[in-house]
Amino acid sequence: MQQAEPEIIFDDKIEQEIKIEPKDWMPEKYRQTLIRQISQHAHSEIVGMLPEGNWITRAPSLRRKAILLAKVQDEAGHGLYLYSAAETLGIGREEMYDQLHTGKAKYSSIFNYPTLTWADIGAIGWLVDGAAIMNQVPLCRASYGPYARAMVRICKEESFHQRQGFEILLTLGKGSKEQRDMAQDAINRWWWPSIMMFGPPDDSSPHTIQNTKWKIKRFTNDELRQRFVDICAEQVKVLGLELPDNDLKWNEERGHYDFGEINWDEFWEVVKGNGPCNKERLETRQKAWDNGAWVREAASAFAEKRNGL
Ligand code: 3HC
Repeated sequence: MQQAEPEIIFDDKIEQEIKIEPKDWMPEKYRQTLIRQISQHAHSEIVGMLPEGNWITRAPSLRRKAILLAKVQDEAGHGLYLYSAAETLGIGREEMYDQLHTGKAKYSSIFNYPTLTWADIGAIGWLVDGAAIMNQVPLCRASYGPYARAMVRICKEESFHQRQGFEILLTLGKGSKEQRDMAQDAINRWWWPSIMMFGPPDDSSPHTIQNTKWKIKRFTNDELRQRFVDICAEQVKVLGLELPDNDLKWNEERGHYDFGEINWDEFWEVVKGNGPCNKERLETRQKAWDNGAWVREAASAFAEKRNGL
Protein backbone atom coordinates (compact mmCIF):
# COMPACT_ATOMS: atom_id res chain seq x y z
CA MET A 1 0.00 0.00 0.00
CA GLN A 2 1.47 3.43 -1.03
CA GLN A 3 2.53 5.22 2.24
CA ALA A 4 0.77 8.54 2.74
CA GLU A 5 3.11 11.51 2.17
CA PRO A 6 3.31 12.67 5.84
CA GLU A 7 4.33 9.22 6.98
CA ILE A 8 7.19 9.16 4.45
CA ILE A 9 8.41 12.53 5.74
CA PHE A 10 8.12 11.32 9.37
CA ASP A 11 10.03 8.10 8.68
CA ASP A 12 12.67 10.05 6.78
CA LYS A 13 13.16 12.46 9.71
CA ILE A 14 13.56 9.53 12.11
CA GLU A 15 16.05 7.93 9.74
CA GLN A 16 18.04 11.15 9.37
CA GLU A 17 18.03 11.90 13.12
CA ILE A 18 15.94 15.07 12.58
CA LYS A 19 13.95 15.82 15.73
CA ILE A 20 10.17 15.46 15.60
CA GLU A 21 8.63 18.69 16.92
CA PRO A 22 5.15 19.25 18.42
CA LYS A 23 3.67 20.76 15.25
CA ASP A 24 5.04 18.01 12.99
CA TRP A 25 2.82 15.24 11.69
CA MET A 26 3.39 12.04 13.70
CA PRO A 27 1.70 8.61 13.80
CA GLU A 28 -0.99 8.58 16.51
CA LYS A 29 0.70 5.56 18.11
CA TYR A 30 3.98 7.52 18.32
CA ARG A 31 2.14 10.35 20.08
CA GLN A 32 0.38 7.96 22.46
CA THR A 33 3.50 6.03 23.45
CA LEU A 34 5.32 9.31 24.11
CA ILE A 35 2.45 10.60 26.26
CA ARG A 36 2.54 7.30 28.12
CA GLN A 37 6.31 7.27 28.68
CA ILE A 38 6.87 10.99 29.35
CA SER A 39 3.91 11.38 31.73
CA GLN A 40 4.95 8.26 33.67
CA HIS A 41 8.50 9.57 33.76
CA ALA A 42 7.17 12.84 35.22
CA HIS A 43 5.07 10.96 37.78
CA SER A 44 8.21 9.01 38.78
CA GLU A 45 10.10 12.23 39.45
CA ILE A 46 7.31 13.69 41.60
CA VAL A 47 6.61 10.48 43.56
CA GLY A 48 10.39 9.98 43.82
CA MET A 49 10.54 13.08 46.06
CA LEU A 50 8.64 11.25 48.81
CA PRO A 51 11.08 8.54 49.98
CA GLU A 52 13.94 11.06 50.20
CA GLY A 53 11.80 13.90 51.55
CA ASN A 54 11.22 11.61 54.53
CA TRP A 55 14.84 12.25 55.66
CA ILE A 56 15.18 16.02 55.13
CA THR A 57 14.33 16.78 58.79
CA ARG A 58 16.65 14.01 59.98
CA ALA A 59 19.76 14.61 57.89
CA PRO A 60 22.87 14.12 60.09
CA SER A 61 24.35 17.57 59.34
CA LEU A 62 23.41 20.95 57.90
CA ARG A 63 25.53 20.15 54.82
CA ARG A 64 23.71 16.85 54.21
CA LYS A 65 20.35 18.58 54.78
CA ALA A 66 21.19 21.32 52.25
CA ILE A 67 22.30 18.76 49.66
CA LEU A 68 19.18 16.61 50.16
CA LEU A 69 16.92 19.69 49.99
CA ALA A 70 18.55 20.68 46.69
CA LYS A 71 18.18 17.16 45.29
CA VAL A 72 14.49 16.80 46.20
CA GLN A 73 13.83 20.26 44.75
CA ASP A 74 15.62 19.18 41.53
CA GLU A 75 13.29 16.18 41.25
CA ALA A 76 10.27 18.51 41.41
CA GLY A 77 11.79 20.54 38.59
CA HIS A 78 12.40 17.39 36.54
CA GLY A 79 8.75 16.49 36.96
CA LEU A 80 7.66 19.95 35.75
CA TYR A 81 9.93 19.83 32.66
CA LEU A 82 8.53 16.43 31.79
CA TYR A 83 4.87 17.35 32.37
CA SER A 84 5.49 20.35 30.08
CA ALA A 85 7.07 18.08 27.47
CA ALA A 86 4.07 15.75 27.66
CA GLU A 87 1.66 18.72 27.31
CA THR A 88 3.21 19.52 23.91
CA LEU A 89 1.63 16.23 22.74
CA GLY A 90 -1.87 17.40 23.60
CA ILE A 91 -2.53 15.99 27.07
CA GLY A 92 -3.43 18.38 29.92
CA ARG A 93 -1.74 18.52 33.35
CA GLU A 94 -4.96 17.73 35.25
CA GLU A 95 -5.59 14.67 33.05
CA MET A 96 -2.08 13.36 33.77
CA TYR A 97 -2.50 13.88 37.51
CA ASP A 98 -5.88 12.16 37.39
CA GLN A 99 -4.28 9.17 35.64
CA LEU A 100 -1.66 9.01 38.42
CA HIS A 101 -4.15 9.36 41.29
CA THR A 102 -6.54 6.76 39.86
CA GLY A 103 -3.77 4.26 39.16
CA LYS A 104 -4.33 4.45 35.39
CA ALA A 105 -0.76 5.69 34.96
CA LYS A 106 2.35 4.08 36.38
CA TYR A 107 5.39 5.54 38.06
CA SER A 108 8.72 3.83 38.66
CA SER A 109 8.45 0.74 40.87
CA ILE A 110 11.54 1.77 42.82
CA PHE A 111 9.72 4.52 44.72
CA ASN A 112 7.44 2.04 46.43
CA TYR A 113 10.16 0.92 48.84
CA PRO A 114 10.64 2.53 52.28
CA THR A 115 13.66 4.60 53.35
CA LEU A 116 14.46 3.02 56.72
CA THR A 117 17.82 4.63 57.60
CA TRP A 118 19.98 7.59 56.54
CA ALA A 119 22.12 5.16 54.51
CA ASP A 120 19.09 4.63 52.24
CA ILE A 121 19.59 8.20 51.03
CA GLY A 122 23.08 7.21 49.95
CA ALA A 123 21.87 3.99 48.32
CA ILE A 124 19.13 5.87 46.46
CA GLY A 125 21.60 8.47 45.16
CA TRP A 126 24.19 5.90 44.10
CA LEU A 127 21.87 3.17 42.78
CA VAL A 128 18.51 4.75 41.89
CA ASP A 129 19.89 7.98 40.44
CA GLY A 130 22.74 5.96 38.94
CA ALA A 131 20.21 3.70 37.18
CA ALA A 132 18.21 6.77 36.17
CA ILE A 133 21.30 8.31 34.54
CA MET A 134 22.03 5.06 32.68
CA ASN A 135 18.47 5.07 31.36
CA GLN A 136 18.16 8.82 30.79
CA VAL A 137 21.40 9.74 28.99
CA PRO A 138 20.28 7.87 25.82
CA LEU A 139 16.94 9.70 26.11
CA CYS A 140 18.84 12.96 25.44
CA ARG A 141 18.95 11.59 21.86
CA ALA A 142 15.25 10.63 21.75
CA SER A 143 13.58 11.42 18.43
CA TYR A 144 10.98 13.71 20.04
CA GLY A 145 12.52 17.19 20.43
CA PRO A 146 10.89 18.44 23.65
CA TYR A 147 11.67 15.16 25.45
CA ALA A 148 15.31 15.04 24.32
CA ARG A 149 15.85 18.69 25.31
CA ALA A 150 14.24 18.22 28.74
CA MET A 151 16.55 15.27 29.36
CA VAL A 152 19.75 17.26 28.74
CA ARG A 153 19.10 19.51 31.76
CA ILE A 154 17.80 16.62 33.86
CA CYS A 155 20.87 14.46 33.24
CA LYS A 156 23.23 17.24 34.34
CA GLU A 157 21.45 17.40 37.70
CA GLU A 158 21.22 13.60 38.02
CA SER A 159 25.01 13.28 38.00
CA PHE A 160 25.16 15.51 41.10
CA HIS A 161 22.45 13.30 42.66
CA GLN A 162 24.42 10.13 42.00
CA ARG A 163 27.68 11.59 43.27
CA GLN A 164 26.24 12.86 46.55
CA GLY A 165 24.75 9.41 47.19
CA PHE A 166 28.06 7.67 46.50
CA GLU A 167 29.78 10.12 48.87
CA ILE A 168 27.29 9.33 51.67
CA LEU A 169 28.04 5.59 51.30
CA LEU A 170 31.80 6.22 51.05
CA THR A 171 31.66 8.23 54.30
CA LEU A 172 29.61 5.55 56.07
CA GLY A 173 31.82 2.80 54.64
CA LYS A 174 34.87 4.42 56.22
CA GLY A 175 33.06 4.97 59.51
CA SER A 176 32.29 2.78 62.53
CA LYS A 177 31.16 -0.84 62.22
CA GLU A 178 27.56 0.31 62.86
CA GLN A 179 27.83 2.84 60.04
CA ARG A 180 29.36 0.28 57.66
CA ASP A 181 26.61 -2.22 58.57
CA MET A 182 23.94 0.46 57.98
CA ALA A 183 25.39 1.19 54.51
CA GLN A 184 25.59 -2.52 53.62
CA ASP A 185 22.01 -3.08 54.82
CA ALA A 186 20.78 -0.23 52.59
CA ILE A 187 22.62 -1.65 49.55
CA ASN A 188 21.15 -5.08 50.31
CA ARG A 189 17.61 -3.63 50.24
CA TRP A 190 18.00 -1.28 47.24
CA TRP A 191 20.15 -3.31 44.83
CA TRP A 192 17.60 -5.67 43.27
CA PRO A 193 14.73 -3.09 43.07
CA SER A 194 17.23 -0.71 41.38
CA ILE A 195 18.06 -3.13 38.57
CA MET A 196 14.33 -3.81 38.13
CA MET A 197 13.96 -0.06 37.33
CA PHE A 198 15.17 -0.73 33.77
CA GLY A 199 11.92 -2.56 33.07
CA PRO A 200 11.02 -6.17 32.33
CA PRO A 201 13.32 -8.44 30.32
CA ASP A 202 13.42 -7.57 26.61
CA ASP A 203 11.44 -10.68 25.69
CA SER A 204 8.52 -9.46 27.83
CA SER A 205 8.66 -5.75 26.94
CA PRO A 206 5.70 -4.83 24.70
CA HIS A 207 7.11 -1.40 23.80
CA THR A 208 10.83 -1.93 23.18
CA ILE A 209 10.82 -3.09 19.54
CA GLN A 210 8.60 -0.29 18.22
CA ASN A 211 10.08 2.40 20.47
CA THR A 212 13.58 1.45 19.35
CA LYS A 213 12.47 1.74 15.68
CA TRP A 214 11.08 5.21 16.50
CA LYS A 215 14.40 6.06 18.26
CA ILE A 216 12.62 6.88 21.51
CA LYS A 217 14.60 4.04 23.07
CA ARG A 218 18.20 3.82 21.94
CA PHE A 219 19.04 0.69 23.96
CA THR A 220 16.90 -2.14 25.29
CA ASN A 221 16.03 -2.67 28.97
CA ASP A 222 18.47 -5.60 29.28
CA GLU A 223 21.33 -3.74 27.54
CA LEU A 224 21.08 -0.79 29.96
CA ARG A 225 20.62 -3.11 32.96
CA GLN A 226 23.80 -5.00 32.03
CA ARG A 227 25.79 -1.76 31.67
CA PHE A 228 24.57 -0.65 35.09
CA VAL A 229 25.51 -3.95 36.75
CA ASP A 230 28.98 -3.79 35.16
CA ILE A 231 29.58 -0.27 36.53
CA CYS A 232 28.21 -0.93 40.05
CA ALA A 233 30.17 -4.18 40.40
CA GLU A 234 33.35 -2.09 40.11
CA GLN A 235 32.18 0.95 42.10
CA VAL A 236 31.10 -1.14 45.10
CA LYS A 237 34.75 -2.22 45.52
CA VAL A 238 35.72 1.44 46.10
CA LEU A 239 33.07 1.58 48.84
CA GLY A 240 34.56 -1.48 50.50
CA LEU A 241 31.06 -2.98 50.57
CA GLU A 242 29.31 -5.73 48.58
CA LEU A 243 26.38 -6.20 46.20
CA PRO A 244 23.91 -8.79 47.54
CA ASP A 245 24.31 -11.26 44.66
CA ASN A 246 26.35 -14.47 45.09
CA ASP A 247 26.11 -15.08 41.32
CA LEU A 248 27.79 -11.77 40.46
CA LYS A 249 30.93 -12.80 38.57
CA TRP A 250 33.02 -11.32 35.75
CA ASN A 251 32.55 -13.35 32.55
CA GLU A 252 35.67 -12.83 30.42
CA GLU A 253 34.06 -14.37 27.37
CA ARG A 254 31.01 -12.05 27.49
CA GLY A 255 33.03 -9.08 28.67
CA HIS A 256 30.31 -8.42 31.26
CA TYR A 257 29.36 -9.39 34.80
CA ASP A 258 27.03 -12.37 35.10
CA PHE A 259 24.42 -11.78 37.77
CA GLY A 260 21.69 -13.67 39.56
CA GLU A 261 18.02 -14.18 38.73
CA ILE A 262 15.78 -11.10 39.18
CA ASN A 263 12.53 -11.73 41.08
CA TRP A 264 10.10 -10.62 38.35
CA ASP A 265 7.11 -11.71 40.45
CA GLU A 266 8.13 -9.06 43.01
CA PHE A 267 8.54 -6.49 40.22
CA TRP A 268 5.08 -7.09 38.73
CA GLU A 269 3.46 -7.18 42.19
CA VAL A 270 4.96 -3.73 42.93
CA VAL A 271 3.96 -2.42 39.48
CA LYS A 272 0.42 -3.72 40.09
CA GLY A 273 0.24 -1.66 43.30
CA ASN A 274 1.13 -4.27 45.93
CA GLY A 275 4.56 -2.93 46.94
CA PRO A 276 5.49 -1.91 50.51
CA CYS A 277 4.61 1.80 50.02
CA ASN A 278 2.32 2.06 46.96
CA LYS A 279 -0.81 2.95 48.98
CA GLU A 280 1.04 5.54 51.10
CA ARG A 281 2.68 7.14 48.05
CA LEU A 282 -0.59 7.61 46.14
CA GLU A 283 -2.43 8.85 49.25
CA THR A 284 0.32 11.44 49.84
CA ARG A 285 0.17 12.58 46.21
CA GLN A 286 -3.63 12.82 46.28
CA LYS A 287 -3.50 14.81 49.55
CA ALA A 288 -0.91 17.21 48.08
CA TRP A 289 -3.13 17.70 45.02
CA ASP A 290 -6.22 18.38 47.16
CA ASN A 291 -4.32 20.72 49.52
CA GLY A 292 -2.98 22.63 46.52
CA ALA A 293 -6.43 23.23 44.99
CA TRP A 294 -6.69 26.75 46.50
CA VAL A 295 -3.37 27.74 44.90
CA ARG A 296 -4.55 26.58 41.46
CA GLU A 297 -7.89 28.37 41.89
CA ALA A 298 -6.19 31.59 43.03
CA ALA A 299 -3.70 31.47 40.17
CA SER A 300 -6.40 30.94 37.53
CA ALA A 301 -8.61 33.65 39.09
CA PHE A 302 -5.65 36.06 38.97
CA ALA A 303 -4.90 35.10 35.35
CA GLU A 304 -8.54 35.59 34.32
CA LYS A 305 -8.69 39.01 36.07
CA ARG A 306 -5.43 40.12 34.52
CA ASN A 307 -6.56 38.96 31.05
CA GLY A 308 -9.92 40.70 31.65
CA LEU A 309 -11.81 37.42 31.13
N1 3HC B 1 8.19 0.71 37.16
C1 3HC B 1 6.89 0.74 36.78
N2 3HC B 1 6.45 0.32 35.56
C2 3HC B 1 7.39 -0.11 34.70
C3 3HC B 1 8.76 -0.15 35.00
C4 3HC B 1 9.15 0.29 36.30
N3 3HC B 1 10.42 0.28 36.68
N4 3HC B 1 9.43 -0.63 33.92
C5 3HC B 1 8.50 -0.89 32.98
N5 3HC B 1 7.28 -0.59 33.45
C6 3HC B 1 6.02 -0.74 32.74
C7 3HC B 1 5.98 0.11 31.48
O1 3HC B 1 5.54 1.44 31.79
C8 3HC B 1 4.97 -0.67 30.65
O2 3HC B 1 3.67 -0.43 31.15
P1 3HC B 1 2.65 0.58 30.35
O3 3HC B 1 2.50 0.02 28.96
O4 3HC B 1 1.39 0.56 31.15
O5 3HC B 1 3.35 1.93 30.35
C9 3HC B 1 5.28 -2.13 31.00
O6 3HC B 1 5.92 -2.09 32.28
C10 3HC B 1 6.18 -2.81 29.97
O7 3HC B 1 7.46 -2.22 30.05
P2 3HC B 1 8.29 -1.83 28.73
O8 3HC B 1 9.71 -2.08 29.03
O9 3HC B 1 7.71 -2.47 27.52
O10 3HC B 1 7.97 -0.27 28.70
P3 3HC B 1 8.92 0.90 28.14
O11 3HC B 1 9.41 0.54 26.77
O12 3HC B 1 8.16 2.14 28.34
O13 3HC B 1 10.21 0.86 29.10
C11 3HC B 1 11.06 2.30 30.81
C12 3HC B 1 10.08 1.16 30.48
C13 3HC B 1 12.49 1.78 30.61
C14 3HC B 1 10.85 2.74 32.26
C15 3HC B 1 10.79 3.45 29.84
O14 3HC B 1 9.43 3.81 29.93
C16 3HC B 1 11.63 4.68 30.11
O15 3HC B 1 12.79 4.72 29.75
N6 3HC B 1 11.02 5.70 30.74
C17 3HC B 1 11.71 6.96 30.95
C18 3HC B 1 12.60 6.92 32.17
C19 3HC B 1 11.80 6.71 33.44
O16 3HC B 1 10.62 6.79 33.48
N7 3HC B 1 12.51 6.40 34.49
C20 3HC B 1 11.83 6.17 35.76
C21 3HC B 1 12.67 6.61 36.85
S1 3HC B 1 12.77 8.36 36.96
C22 3HC B 1 13.85 8.52 38.21
O17 3HC B 1 14.43 7.57 38.59
C23 3HC B 1 14.03 9.87 38.79
C24 3HC B 1 15.40 10.04 39.34
O18 3HC B 1 15.57 11.40 39.61
C25 3HC B 1 15.60 9.29 40.59
